[in-house]
Amino acid sequence: MRTYFITGVAGFIGSNLAKKILKENNDIQIVGLDNLNDYYDVKLKEYRLNELKKYEGRFIFVQGNLADKKIVENIFEQYKPSIVVNLAAQAGVRYSITNPDAYVEANLIGFYNILECCRHYPVEHLVYASSSSVYGSNKKIPYSTDDKVDNPVSLYAATKKSDELLAHAYSKLYNIPSTGLRFFTVYGPAGRPDMAYFGFTNKLLAGEKIKIFNYGNCKRDFTYIDDIVEGVWRVMNMAPEKKNGEDGLPIPPYKIYNIGNGHPVNLLDFVQILQEELIRAKVLTSDYNFENHKELVAMQPGDVPITYADTTPLEKDFGFKPNTSLRDGLRKFAEWYKEFYM
Ligand SMILES: NC(=O)c1ccc[n+]([C@@H]2O[C@H](COP(=O)([O-])OP(=O)(O)OC[C@H]3O[C@@H](n4cnc5c(N)ncnc54)[C@H](O)[C@@H]3O)[C@@H](O)[C@H]2O)c1
Repeated sequence: MRTYFITGVAGFIGSNLAKKILKENNDIQIVGLDNLNDYYDVKLKEYRLNELKKYEGRFIFVQGNLADKKIVENIFEQYKPSIVVNLAAQAGVRYSITNPDAYVEANLIGFYNILECCRHYPVEHLVYASSSSVYGSNKKIPYSTDDKVDNPVSLYAATKKSDELLAHAYSKLYNIPSTGLRFFTVYGPAGRPDMAYFGFTNKLLAGEKIKIFNYGNCKRDFTYIDDIVEGVWRVMNMAPEKKNGEDGLPIPPYKIYNIGNGHPVNLLDFVQILQEELIRAKVLTSDYNFENHKELVAMQPGDVPITYADTTPLEKDFGFKPNTSLRDGLRKFAEWYKEFYM
């Protein structure tokens, strides 16, 4: 039995990744860590965890804070995971403007604890979540991992870029194979309520107005959860190779990839598809007056006008490209929402 360690396992991406692995591999056990914080409705995290508890015997859940070094060390000492996937983080761009402490704690101290344990225990591959936000307001599109990303426009982005730098130093110094994944606007059933598609749905259902930023002139590279999970799974199983350079010292076994759909969609088109799918799933009635519930507003601090992933390296190295259409993905979200909330 191989042991994999996933942090943020009650989170949107972590729970879906754990589910796929447990379902498809009888010879893998998963140790999952999450502090179940209340950044958003904890019921959703409990719901996701309940789905995982079906795999009793191969799923071990530890409730605790990644920033607590002792907790993290105990997990490595007890379970000696061969692959580590760090997804726990304080996510969200806007929240980082008012709650910086949470980002420093989870994304910097927490990630440092993971790196230290990867240094002291025999980990074959560390995979960790970075974000499309590291591209800031870069003008050149699509965003390539070769682009300069030294101008973050939010603390969230700055912590994610810092994680990539910390991982590089640890890969170089201790020869730890690591891969950072820059995710692009992940969405789907039981996703994050702080994200636009989910928040819009809640508001429209409550008869409130939704705010469409930058007067609708924003584009997002929406990526469906199953595509993200498939990408992470493929990457996890292929660690960057350990090699020495001419100086006899290790060349850092270090990689960064984008995982995005590679097909940015204008916010107004996205809202149109969401409306249609909410009606189809009977979350909203067919005569819903959407025009009365929309407000076009200016851009918010920390926001960027476009995200657009160049996924050529992912395709080349792993033979995989996310391809779920926004309509198919939002359909699954709307159907789940109807079932879960109504
Ligand atoms: N969803 C996206 O669109 C997106 C885009 C880019 C990057 N990411 C990154 O992917 C990762 C997963 O994102 P997600 O959408 O699943 O977010 P999520 O908030 O649903 O999941 C993160 C989980 O980590 C847990 N957590 C937070 N701080 C913790 C701590 N200090 N100790 C232990 N657990 C802690 C939370 O309780 C949560 O369950 C994050 O690192 C996020 O920054 C997500």
